[in-house]
Amino acid sequence: MPVERTFAIIKPDAVAQPGATGEILRRIEDHGLSIIGLKRLQLTEGQAQGFYAVHRERPFFKDLVAFMTSGPVVVVALEGEDAIPTWRGLMGPTNSEEAKAGTIRGDFGTDIERNAVHGSDAPETARIEIPYFFNAGEIQAPMEAL
Ligand code: RTP
Ligand code: MG
Repeated sequence: MPVERTFAIIKPDAVAQPGATGEILRRIEDHGLSIIGLKRLQLTEGQAQGFYAVHRERPFFKDLVAFMTSGPVVVVALEGEDAIPTWRGLMGPTNSEEAKAGTIRGDFGTDIERNAVHGSDAPETARIEIPYFFNAGEIQAPMEAL
């Protein structure tokens, strides 16, 4: 099992639920992943557009940017064995209406858009997403190690 890094966002819908941020971070740590970077911030429209640029031609892009800027988010850099599939598994499928109870999207999300959390889908994505929000001094290990 490779040691990987991945990037997570606790989205505005989940941050707005009392206790949800702590519960999501607890599940992350319970599954053997280390939190190597963590902060709470309000995304600007430009930051949200840039982060989801891969989706800019999709019909839901404008709604997605509005949702992601609707309140504070918590961004998290994670490290551990198989961190990418481990975190995606904990999250559950994109559509919260299809996500089983016990998954984060099943427990804290509402629908296909308001789905509580984000997770990198591949190591190459994580290598772009972590530095999008964290500078070298905000991560435990040097960025060169990514
Ligand atoms: P994420 O990137 O946030 O981890 O989610 P994902 O890989 O499971 O899904 P992706 O296809 O990358 O979609 C990014 C986010 O866009 C919103 N979405 N809305 N209205 C819609 O049809 C729709 N489809 C996707 C969701 O917030 C999704 O997480
Ligand atoms: Mg995605």
